[in-house]
Amino acid sequence: MAPYDCLGTICLVKFPRGTKLREKKGFAALFMREHPRITTVLEKTGKISGRLRTPTSRWLGGEKTKEAFYAENGCVFRLNVDSCYFSPRLAEERKQTASMVKKGERVLVLCGGVGPFAVVIAKAGKATEVVSVELGKEPSRYALDNVKRNKVRVEVVQGDVKKVLPRFVKARRVFDRIVMARPNLTDTFLTPTLAVARKGTMIHYYGFCHEDGLEGMKTALLVEGKKAGRKLQIQGVKKAGDIGTRKYRYRIDFVVR
Ligand SMILES: C[S@@+](CC[C@H](N)C(=O)[O-])C[C@H]1O[C@@H](n2cnc3c(N)ncnc32)[C@H](O)[C@@H]1O
Repeated sequence: MAPYDCLGTICLVKFPRGTKLREKKGFAALFMREHPRITTVLEKTGKISGRLRTPTSRWLGGEKTKEAFYAENGCVFRLNVDSCYFSPRLAEERKQTASMVKKGERVLVLCGGVGPFAVVIAKAGKATEVVSVELGKEPSRYALDNVKRNKVRVEVVQGDVKKVLPRFVKARRVFDRIVMARPNLTDTFLTPTLAVARKGTMIHYYGFCHEDGLEGMKTALLVEGKKAGRKLQIQGVKKAGDIGTRKYRYRIDFVVR
């Protein structure tokens, strides 16, 4: 069976190289018959790429749409699978992060996409303030829609983290918890993020590396923190998904001192 991800009513399938179009369409028809909830089957045609981390897909069967309706953690999300990054595999991460938020916290989600971390955190009801910053116009538009759809209060800010955070500094905004749902790109965004952290702010940093590179990634974060004049105290490291052979998305939790 070809690997696939289901996003609500849409199924996205990655076929082995050389699979004929006829076989792919046959798979799509059979999949929809066996999974009546799925009304569209798309083929993943490209790797996730670019700053917006968007994939590309091709319609194979069912309703001709790229817009998915998806439910998790008691919330619902609408998104276009070609113009927005979204991983259903992070549902457990979002649940865990939301469960760590304490009453009255001001929470900032960086690289927030269509709003899943921010909405699940806001829905949990503990935070007094939830802000989500996302570069892409389309994902930000969907994030606003998802906020309304879930009847929660989240401030959605469209823009580059590196430009938005200095504006927050000017406005003297600080946060108690920051989720850095970073893309798998080189920029850490850590230095501008530390400028909106108070003493005691908890940061959940998502980083990607081969397991042999984990210690190096941790050290690089501590060094960058020191250069920014802040001491970072790592409290935990967790594998939050695999991205290749012995390569993982890690969540590094640290407190800013
Ligand atoms: C790994 S995705 C995470 C999306 C979302 N948090 C989720 O869990 O589905 C990374 C997101 O970062 C956004 N992004 C990339 N560079 C950015 C930047 N400089 N400022 C703000 N957002 C950025 C991308 O558009 C993408 O939506």
